[in-house]
Amino acid sequence: MTEAKTIGVGLISVGWMGKAHTRAYRSLPIVYPELGIAPRLVQAADVAPAGRGFAVDVLGYESAVADYREVIANPEVDVVSICAPNYLHKEIGVAAAEAGKPFWIEKPVGRGGAETEEVEAAADAAGVVTCIGFNYRWAPAVERARQLVSDGSLGRITNIRGRFFGGFSSNPDDPLTWRFLRKTSGSGVLGDLMGHLVDLIHYVVGPISSITAATGLYLSERPALPGSPDEGKLLPVENEDYATLLVRLGESAVGAGAIGSLEASRIAVGPRSEYGFEIFGTEGSVRWDFERMNELEIALTRTGANRGYIRAVADDYFPGFSRFQPSAGTGMGFDDLKVIEAARFLVGVAGGEQSSSNIHDAVASARVLDAAEKSAESGQWVDLPLVPGTTANTRKEA
Ligand SMILES: NC(=O)c1ccc[n+]([C@@H]2O[C@H](COP(=O)([O-])OP(=O)(O)OC[C@H]3O[C@@H](n4cnc5c(N)ncnc54)[C@H](O)[C@@H]3O)[C@@H](O)[C@H]2O)c1
Repeated sequence: MTEAKTIGVGLISVGWMGKAHTRAYRSLPIVYPELGIAPRLVQAADVAPAGRGFAVDVLGYESAVADYREVIANPEVDVVSICAPNYLHKEIGVAAAEAGKPFWIEKPVGRGGAETEEVEAAADAAGVVTCIGFNYRWAPAVERARQLVSDGSLGRITNIRGRFFGGFSSNPDDPLTWRFLRKTSGSGVLGDLMGHLVDLIHYVVGPISSITAATGLYLSERPALPGSPDEGKLLPVENEDYATLLVRLGESAVGAGAIGSLEASRIAVGPRSEYGFEIFGTEGSVRWDFERMNELEIALTRTGANRGYIRAVADDYFPGFSRFQPSAGTGMGFDDLKVIEAARFLVGVAGGEQSSSNIHDAVASARVLDAAEKSAESGQWVDLPLVPGTTANTRKEA
């Protein structure tokens, strides 16, 4: 057996995503043994002492520090996972690039398109591999939907519907965390959920070229964080709870000329993580929902006994599924999508194919979100410059 290639990992922020990235690095050699990649958990950073303790005692990092700059400067750290709150993404992403370190960064990469482009410029100048936390792309059922769009099984794509409905902020008594403030989060549900959905549409059907949007803020006050100077007071929420977009897909899209609607809410009561899409073509349709991520509903005929949606359950004909489970219908979960993301990132870092989403995809998504904010203010349609992410589902030139 050839010796494994060790890649030193530095983690910035030991919250929900920091733990998810770490589980992915740990699973990678088990799920992808043939890659010969051995992530080594070198150093973690978190301002919270509890995060640092957890990183060393539970996750297995060799050391933990308070200042993320130490992680980036550590010569044993080859790649950086950036899982901090949104307002830190730009400065950490730029710092990692300037240090020549490839990075896997959570979405949204910046508080808007301008910050995302700053990270893009730094990554381009340094020539480092990047990977964005657009994990829903990697659900095998989503990959199957993408195949059906690309190979023409659905015919000409006519219209799409997407919805990312979560209830994680539906309780008005939940405190005012960093997610609800412009300074620390940027936009609200646009950056948090709509960014994922826009990326999914880009990946599965192709680049969005024109949009109009409306947004709404409904739970406009929340209690100050316990332990903060304002504890006991209600403070204003500064970004939107809900957003809806009408979109057109550009000529470069596989689904060129399709129109559709995309919605995202963080305060929906009922849906828990109802993240999904429906794609309609002249010959067929597909629909997917993350709450049932191992299923794809497919309709490929309008005549005969099999017309209407047929439910396909994940099996080895869903790309990537059998790597995780040898038995059909044995469901994968969110963490598995992160394992796929980690593998695509580190294969690129190790000099192989760069097949993860990348900083250009993040810019493509962020520009749509910027246009949505602009349109929500003006009530006008906004045309987007054609900057498809490099992995968007674009039409091949004849
Ligand atoms: N890809 C996905 O599906 C997905 C899901 C959830 C969150 N996210 C994204 O991941 C990012 C992190 O979200 P989360 O839910 O893990 O947050 P979280 O609130 O669980 O954790 C944030 C962590 O950052 C630490 N932190 C704060 N300031 C810091 C600093 N200056 N230096 C180092 N650490 C610092 C906090 O102590 C905390 O441990 C966000 O950008 C979010 O949008 C992505």
